[in-house]
Amino acid sequence: MTALLEVIGLQVAYGGVLAVRDVSLAVAPGQVTAVLGANGAGKTTTLLAVSGLVRARAGQVLLDGQPLLGRSAERIARLGIAHVPAGRGVFPGLTVADNLRMGLYGAGRDGSADGRAAVEEVLESFPVLRERRDQAAGTMSGGQQQQLAIGRALVQRPRLLLLDEMSMGLSPTVVADLFVLVRRLADEGMAVVMVEQFVGQALKVADEAVVLEQGSVVAAGPPASLSAEDIGAAYLGGTAAGPALPGAPRDARQRLPVSLAGVDVRRLERLAARQGRSPDELAQELLEQAIARSGS
Ligand SMILES: Nc1ncnc2c1ncn2[C@@H]1O[C@H](COP(=O)(O)OP(=O)(O)OP(=O)(O)O)[C@@H](O)[C@H]1O
Ligand SMILES: [Mg+2]
Repeated sequence: MTALLEVIGLQVAYGGVLAVRDVSLAVAPGQVTAVLGANGAGKTTTLLAVSGLVRARAGQVLLDGQPLLGRSAERIARLGIAHVPAGRGVFPGLTVADNLRMGLYGAGRDGSADGRAAVEEVLESFPVLRERRDQAAGTMSGGQQQQLAIGRALVQRPRLLLLDEMSMGLSPTVVADLFVLVRRLADEGMAVVMVEQFVGQALKVADEAVVLEQGSVVAAGPPASLSAEDIGAAYLGGTAAGPALPGAPRDARQRLPVSLAGVDVRRLERLAARQGRSPDELAQELLEQAIARSGS
């Protein structure tokens, strides 16, 4: 395969403690690579490093052969990488349509005709979102919100989609539908890297799987090539007894920025707090400014 994304020997540390020690993976257009591993194995950190949301300490990340490390999250989003973070991160008080427009805003596309067409396309392929386009996102079900989070990434028309635990907290039928969607997106030509704890289902749709244990790859290859033992490591890993990094600050995860296609939600939340307003309100205002700028 000719890889679109290549991660080679990636290392990421938090406060001097290695969370990702040695991760390599690749994904080609039309393919799904599943990243598996127990809690704390370094899956989320790997995706964050690809998106430029945490700094790598060593290794390479290449998109079409071009190095990404050191570029800002905004630049990386604009190169065609969309990241759906764990926990979805939709704006609960904004409507479905405005949440989708936030995806454009992050990708620097704002309300241009092309951007509006991208929003319409997503509404077309997600009937649930179309029906609820004027509904506040926070009043939708978990599965609907996950579709919105994925839809918001898709309005960027990404070449590479990064999905972090999209099935978390959802019912089995909703999860099954989401896996079908992922396969369809890949079959249409997108490259997808999917972090999953639904190991069995992930292996069914993936072309390649990578199993991480304590920050390193312990098994990799087409799903059929993985042994039961490899797959066992994806559930249990070596860290089932407790956190791998006792030195890490306990609330560190909460402080991580979560990017919506380059919109740093944590930054937006801080800015809103300083202004004594809600993040939703500020997001709405940014959207209106972006739409006014694009003259639509
Ligand atoms: N911001 C942070 N600061 C310090 N340590 C962190 C931070 N984020 C993650 N870690 C630590 O880095 C290691 C890898 O975490 P990461 O979130 O990448 O794992 P994961 O494989 O996504 O786990 P999970 O399945 O629980 O989501 C863990 O030991 C975790 O405690
Ligand atoms: Mg994670």
